[in-house]
Amino acid sequence: MNTRIPQLLGIEYPIIQGGMAWVAEHHLAAAVSEAGGLGLIGGANAPGEVVREEIRKAKKLTNKPIGVNVMLLSPHADDVAKVIVEEGIKVVTTGAGNPEKYMEMWKAAGIKVIPVVASVALAKRMERYGADAVVAEGCESGGHIGEQTTMTLVPQVADAVSIPVIAAGGIGDGRGIAAAFMLGAEAVQIGTRFVVSKESIVHDNYKQRIIKAKDIDSAVTGRTHGHPVRSLRNQMTREYVRLEEEGKSFEELEYLTLGTLRKAVLEGDVINGTVMAGQIAGMISKEQTCKEMIEEMMEQAGKLLGR
Ligand SMILES: Cc1cc2nc3c(=O)[nH]c(=O)nc-3n(C[C@H](O)[C@H](O)[C@H](O)COP(=O)(O)O)c2cc1C
Repeated sequence: MNTRIPQLLGIEYPIIQGGMAWVAEHHLAAAVSEAGGLGLIGGANAPGEVVREEIRKAKKLTNKPIGVNVMLLSPHADDVAKVIVEEGIKVVTTGAGNPEKYMEMWKAAGIKVIPVVASVALAKRMERYGADAVVAEGCESGGHIGEQTTMTLVPQVADAVSIPVIAAGGIGDGRGIAAAFMLGAEAVQIGTRFVVSKESIVHDNYKQRIIKAKDIDSAVTGRTHGHPVRSLRNQMTREYVRLEEEGKSFEELEYLTLGTLRKAVLEGDVINGTVMAGQIAGMISKEQTCKEMIEEMMEQAGKLLGR
């Protein structure tokens, strides 16, 4: 399992933690990196100075590499892009757009750039712009999603680009990692399982909701306006779908979800909050440390792959 990714990123195992908004703060990022994967701080919509603080706090907890996920639609993306360089971060993943305008600055600082993509076309474009790898994310994932499944997207992206491909979406154990490798991935990105790690600061109600979830418990909202999001079914998703069916505008629906991820993550409101999680939630049955999760997954994947 010694692919190009661990070498490229200076990590031990080919496991990357998703840069999850509100969830991926310094405790989680440091714990994943300490355990041999790559931990990420989720920039989300946070101002540059907040991200800087998070990076500094994570660096106090680990000397191993950590990365930052930059949400390109954030009003603070320009600031966050600069903070990353100033703080000596060496790996960036990007979501919701094209990171081309930051490429020169990041490359000059020796930063590895890994855009998250949901289609072959975007993967090819990112390779042309100088990306070092891509995360091919299937719609099984928690959070904002595309339309392709991981099973169909990963091999098609792997065939289309020569940079390494990291599979994301629906991977929660060693079988998922082994399957992703068989599809042509050289690493995996995991979100939902790490949400329930002991080091994750997510409210216990949120963790318990994932632990108790069944396979069919997630719902996708926002398809009508082309901004689909996967989260666990609750009062919020039912209300959202009802308003979508009524033909409410994107702005009205956005207003409904304003601050609701934060409400679920920090306050534990799993009824009216947005409990972002992927379809693999149904398989996740306990809280463990990131180290326990990573070692268990690597051992299982290693056996399956005969390595
Ligand atoms: C609570 C939550 C928040 C997320 N927020 C972001 C985000 O801000 N930026 C991003 O690129 N991906 C985000 N994601 C997606 C993850 O980074 C990751 O790609 C995905 O969770 C992988 O699929 P899985 O949930 O099946 O493991 C989020 C996922 C979850 C569960």
